[in-house]
Amino acid sequence: MTHAPSGARSLLADPTHRTRFDRASKLVAAVGIVVLSLDTWARSSGVSSALVDEALIAIWFLFLIEIPVRWRADRHGQPPYPRTPGALFDALAVALPLTGLLARLSARDVVLLCGIWVLKFTRESTALRLLGRVLAHTGRNLLSVMSVFGVVLFLAALLVHVVERDHQPERFGSIPEALWWATATLTTTGYGDAVPASLPGRILAGLVMVAGIALFALWAGILASGFADEIRRRDFLRNWQMVARVPIFAGLDAQTLAEIVRVLRHRRVAAGAVICRQGEPGEQMFFVAEGEVAVATSPPVLLGPGDFFGELALITGEPRAVSVRASTEVSLLLLDISDFRMLMAQDDKAAVTIRAEAERRLAALPRGAARASEALPSAPLSRP
Ligand code: CMP
Repeated sequence: MTHAPSGARSLLADPTHRTRFDRASKLVAAVGIVVLSLDTWARSSGVSSALVDEALIAIWFLFLIEIPVRWRADRHGQPPYPRTPGALFDALAVALPLTGLLARLSARDVVLLCGIWVLKFTRESTALRLLGRVLAHTGRNLLSVMSVFGVVLFLAALLVHVVERDHQPERFGSIPEALWWATATLTTTGYGDAVPASLPGRILAGLVMVAGIALFALWAGILASGFADEIRRRDFLRNWQMVARVPIFAGLDAQTLAEIVRVLRHRRVAAGAVICRQGEPGEQMFFVAEGEVAVATSPPVLLGPGDFFGELALITGEPRAVSVRASTEVSLLLLDISDFRMLMAQDDKAAVTIRAEAERRLAALPRGAARASEALPSAPLSRP
């Protein structure tokens, strides 16, 4: 869907404005949540205020206006707004309280329906998206642990019913009743409303608790390794795409390229932030994947996508020669000193390019010409 340029579009086309708009929307949602929570408290004390209703109605209207504003700001290359999870949350934020009103629910219940506004906080949540992918990949393993959980749960209920039914028929007289105890014990919640009285019952309780801990540890382990795999996969993919924009890596053989992609780290830096400061020790070099940085030479030099900087400190072992600042928001790939040495040792072409550029830059620095010949080792750097 294409739109003519509009106020909303130009407002949200700027990433900074978009971030501010998202923050404002979350702030309004937070105010709404606090107001409705306080309202339940006030009502339980027998107080109700028209001010609360007015505040919630005002927030509802803001959320109503938010939908066309976001829709008109649809960006080229991004999924259309109506197809994003955020659009669904925005629609629910408006539709649910409205449905409550149309269904003639009491004011108390309509206020509670506004609790759906809490979903506004998940709009940009990468954690939720990540969790979705982790669940999709590890679902089968999680389900198999779940089935063991079900088996243990049933056996625990059956056994406790057998050993406790004569002592406490009101709590353990049937398997469905015993299942409540089994669930509370296997999840190690332990409400304490049903407690085995016999010795075999207590031994069983201990075993069920230990089984519960083991099963949850298994679940946690599957989820944790699923998260780690997913993050590694995501970083690898993103780095791979970014490395494609850096000409120096173009000639690398597949194995070295994969190795470099694995060790590169990605960092996004806000416009204006200092990336390296003159005089500080340098432990990494940087490749610009997106955006622009300004090297504080005289006159300043601008480096853009595909360029690199920060190599001098790694080659010479001296502090940073000049400061480098992000002149726009910038996406960088970071290479640590040990991996830099690996790159220089494994790829002659990259080493020659980096060294030639380093020599040129050193010579251009005020004291560089003097330092260049003594500081730059003539042989390519090898592994430590
Ligand atoms: P380093 O000294 O580690 O940190 C600052 C970096 O600025 C330096 O490495 C170079 O990569 C970079 N730099 C210095 N002089 C120039 C220049 N004339 N042109 C581009 N980059 C430079």
